Amino acid sequence: MNDNKEKIQDLIRRRDEAKLGGGQKRIDSQHKKGKLTARERIEMFLDEGSFEEFDMFVTHRCTNFGIDKETYYGDGVITGYGTVDGRLVYVFAQDFTVFGGSLSEAFANKICKVMDMAMKMGAPLIGINDSGGARIQEGVNSLSGYTEIFQRNILASGVIPQISAIFGPCAGGAVYSPALTDFIVMSKGISYMFVTGPKVVKTVTGEEVTQEQLGGASIHAAKSGVAHFVTDSEEDGLALIRKLISYLPQNNLEDAPLAVCTDSIDRLEDALNDLIPDNPNKPYDVLDVIHAIVDNGEFLESQRLFAPNIVTGFARFNGQSVGIIANQPKYLAGVLDINASRKAARFVRFCDAFNIPIVTLVDVPGFLPGTAQEYGGIIIHGAKLLFAYGEATVPKITIILRKAYGGAYCVMSSKHLRGDINYAWPTGEIAVMGPSGAIEVLSSKEIAAVTDPEEQAKFKAEKEAEYRDKFANPYVAAKYGYIDDVIEPRNTRFRIIRALQSLATKKLSNPAKKHSNIPL
Ligand code: HXC
Repeated sequence: MNDNKEKIQDLIRRRDEAKLGGGQKRIDSQHKKGKLTARERIEMFLDEGSFEEFDMFVTHRCTNFGIDKETYYGDGVITGYGTVDGRLVYVFAQDFTVFGGSLSEAFANKICKVMDMAMKMGAPLIGINDSGGARIQEGVNSLSGYTEIFQRNILASGVIPQISAIFGPCAGGAVYSPALTDFIVMSKGISYMFVTGPKVVKTVTGEEVTQEQLGGASIHAAKSGVAHFVTDSEEDGLALIRKLISYLPQNNLEDAPLAVCTDSIDRLEDALNDLIPDNPNKPYDVLDVIHAIVDNGEFLESQRLFAPNIVTGFARFNGQSVGIIANQPKYLAGVLDINASRKAARFVRFCDAFNIPIVTLVDVPGFLPGTAQEYGGIIIHGAKLLFAYGEATVPKITIILRKAYGGAYCVMSSKHLRGDINYAWPTGEIAVMGPSGAIEVLSSKEIAAVTDPEEQAKFKAEKEAEYRDKFANPYVAAKYGYIDDVIEPRNTRFRIIRALQSLATKKLSNPAKKHSNIPL
């Protein structure tokens, strides 16, 4: 065998060793936990055969606690690039089989390298997290590594889409890298995220909780809102990220790719003409509206279980990607509360940062009253949504389906917040408040003067009808040009498509500044 052949065989041997990560025993143990290995995850995620790996032969340089006697090629994280539906993406996947996926200086450098490449190339970054946190033997070098990653997450924010999958532990300060990214995907049963684990919680507060109760996928999906998507398996999670990317541009200087539209653009949806119940207090499901108007009824809902009184997600009109924000009358009458305001504000800002037009469907009775909301700071959280809409310069199309009351009318992408095209259905009710509240304020003395209860109820109903005739319709707003047109519900899809086409060349910028001061 000549020298070259030997060298090539040596390379192949080294590659095979690297591919085994922490060894077959630990790979088996990962599988026994129902988890895929980092390498399997990357293979499953990217287009077949598209992965190009960096830094396969990197090892750690630490000598503390005898760790220098234990080194593994790759040092616990697999990094590189590949394609998703033919589009370039950068990836890293933490490898739990090597020191529990814990982060060393060399490990962090590998992640920073792909982050820097993703920024230079203007391509999305996808990180798959499965780690015991800071590598204890590395001390402050691990902390510095984390912080270098955080700094890059921050600078990349609003420049390239950043998506985090959590497929294992993600604890301590390590949670802040995913938290700084745009979307977090968790998988049921294997993922958990918390700033301090159950043992520390018990020591500090005396509270006894399991990992699942403290930071499992369901908790972050429904209670904290930290997770945007929760799937039943890693496979589903990875497929979901591929789908999510299909709605997004590569970076903030590009538009999202145009998909081939196989749906009719002027499809009439007769059912929408009858969707709004006669009784204004009766709910309906705004998802029925969304599914009826978007291409092929396809809607990728983000944060589905968190603050369900507002719906956020991606869809397409005539192949063009849009972000949809819709009040959901089915939950809390679609009221705006703290969580709904935070959820929608962040979504609006994401869409605006990445040139994704925003379609807003309005049916909102107002902001949720009460001490819980006031003490929780609804003023500041509601202001986030107001700020996000007002700052957004992407095309903004608003359809008022039914109620648009009070401050919530102003907030929900109204004309006055630079809404480009604002339509209402004939069932729209645009007013300072709902009829019963308004009558309570305007006519309480007159109502009290009617002593017979039956007569009083009749009088109240008359007053409400009078108020409804005057204000609870879209025509007063239309008279002032605050509504560009009142449209037939069944024609909504076509009207939105025409509106998007007309707004394709929109140019609008905000005054030059270092950055705004959104009420955080
Ligand atoms: C070094 C680690 C490690 C770590 C795990 N390992 N965590 N090595 N540093 N942080 C090693 C284990 O020694 C073990 O090695 C292998 O990884 C697998 O770990 P197990 O404990 O056997 O696995 P499991 O039972 O599944 O438990 C997983 C775990 C647990 C819950 C993550 O390992 C754990 O609690 N680890 C410590 C978590 C932690 O406190 N990290 C520091 C957080 S502070 P062998 O050789 O047996 O395979 C932090 C600060 C970040 O991260 C700050 C950023 C700003």
